[in-house]
Amino acid sequence: MATQWFKNAVIYSIDVDTFRDGNGDGIGDFVGLRQALSYLAGLGVTCIWLLPFYPSPDRDNGYDITDYLSVNPALGDLGDFAEFMDEAANRGIRVIIDLVVNHTSNQHPWFKAAQRRHPQYYSYYVWRKEKPPDTKDQVVFPGRQSGVWQYSRIAKAYYFHRFYEYQPDLNTANPAVRTEIKKIIGFWLALGVSGFRVDAAPFVIAQKGSEVEKQPHESFDYINEFRECLSWKRGDAVFLAEANVAPDQMLQFFGERGDRMNMALNFFVNPHLFLAIANESPEPLVRSLLQIPTIPKDSQWAYFLRNHDELDLSRLTELEQARCFEVFGPEKNMQLYGRGIRRRLAPMFGGNVQRQMLAYSLIFTIPGTPVIWYGEEIGMGDDLSQSERNSVRSPMQWSAETNAGFSGAPAKKLRRPVIDCGPFDYRSVNVQAERRDPTSLLNRLERMIRTRKEYPEFACGKYRLLESSRPDAIFAHACEDAGGNAVVAVHNLSHKAVGARVRLWTGKLNQAAFLFGGKDDAAIDAKELQIDLEGYGHNWIRLKSNGTSVRRNRRVKSHGSH
Ligand code: NOJ
Ligand code: CA
Repeated sequence: MATQWFKNAVIYSIDVDTFRDGNGDGIGDFVGLRQALSYLAGLGVTCIWLLPFYPSPDRDNGYDITDYLSVNPALGDLGDFAEFMDEAANRGIRVIIDLVVNHTSNQHPWFKAAQRRHPQYYSYYVWRKEKPPDTKDQVVFPGRQSGVWQYSRIAKAYYFHRFYEYQPDLNTANPAVRTEIKKIIGFWLALGVSGFRVDAAPFVIAQKGSEVEKQPHESFDYINEFRECLSWKRGDAVFLAEANVAPDQMLQFFGERGDRMNMALNFFVNPHLFLAIANESPEPLVRSLLQIPTIPKDSQWAYFLRNHDELDLSRLTELEQARCFEVFGPEKNMQLYGRGIRRRLAPMFGGNVQRQMLAYSLIFTIPGTPVIWYGEEIGMGDDLSQSERNSVRSPMQWSAETNAGFSGAPAKKLRRPVIDCGPFDYRSVNVQAERRDPTSLLNRLERMIRTRKEYPEFACGKYRLLESSRPDAIFAHACEDAGGNAVVAVHNLSHKAVGARVRLWTGKLNQAAFLFGGKDDAAIDAKELQIDLEGYGHNWIRLKSNGTSVRRNRRVKSHGSH
């Protein structure tokens, strides 16, 4: 069986058009991205997740696709893509790409034909003749959508769109549509990708159509069908689901036998983690971890802090949401869709590096695979003058040179403006400057990535929450593999320094090796590990036994070890 590479991966998510411009036209492209691979390899990234790079009118940042089998000409062509893939492979970096098949753009040839009632393509979409009821409460983007049905004058019928009105939903109940989806999967696998981030997974499999308001129903067997296609074509390829669903529905996305999605982004723990940080208390985080289901042994969670969308707080209670808004996004312009915050991490934390590292340490040690949004590793700021979620999609800040080293084009030709004022101005926050500073976020994160990869227990060990003498401030947990190797991670969510005793589950591991900070190895007495953390501090501790009976095994087990 192939090694489960995705469990010990570090995923880095990139929007090609704002990452690096290789030909000086102001738009990031595959040539630029290829040049940036040495940076990513140096950082320790093992897998790149590319946001949609397909031909698109770009009204939803490329999530409105007009051709699934090619590259947006502004970013390059298939040849440039292949060269990028080749170079990534040379560096040992895998690539997964966005699979956006809940909907197409309304400019897709399928939809244009469908509107003209083409005998094949009409049924690729979801139509109704009668005037729809009020569906305001079913939209994904409140305030930007009035409902989920849009009248087409050409078709003389209403089409269903879960997202913006220019994104008609594909009729996934139609086997011909699923055949198209499998063709897309096969095409990109043939070009070397290691899998897909499945956009809007719950909607892809939801019943769509006239009765949609009344009887929501999901066809999970579509996921089995796609997964079978994926795994037959490439045994080690994976699906990473975007499935923002309640905890009791999560397991179905993995399948009880692990035969659906290999990984799912955890949208439930994410807002609870932010609430925990806002309250300087581990309680919400612990609560959320206890609520999520245990997943099959070959499956994995993916954890993230910020991504290319708003920080979605809708899984919190109203009071909890209000608390997060108060701490992280107090101004109206920082909030979005009544449920989220459209800021990057660094500005939400007032630029505090220690607190950012605390947050990274949490997503690097809770069992799962960490996902980093580009620019977060240097603590980039946001641009609230941009509309909706574009606030977190400014060009990557490479250096203090013109246009942040992103592009040689005149500033007005850039895909989006660079951040050139305030505390996150590219002249102070950039790769080049942080590279030189050993205490920078970039260098500290690079070291954390390296350490995480050395301790696969965090990726697929058995994990347990640990009790401490300061449960008000300390979040402590341990991960142990089948070979008896164990690591502990401790986090101080409070801004004040804390000394505490952490209770271990075994007396056998009586020696602590601290992986960060200046503290020497220490003996552990009576299963009580003494820790001292500064405000917002964290540490990881490798446990050993006094003798040499525990043998370390550095390889990720192919069968996971839960
Ligand atoms: C989820 C994506 O993350 C988001 O950016 C996009 O707008 C919607 N899906 C629609 O594709
Ligand atoms: Ca370009």
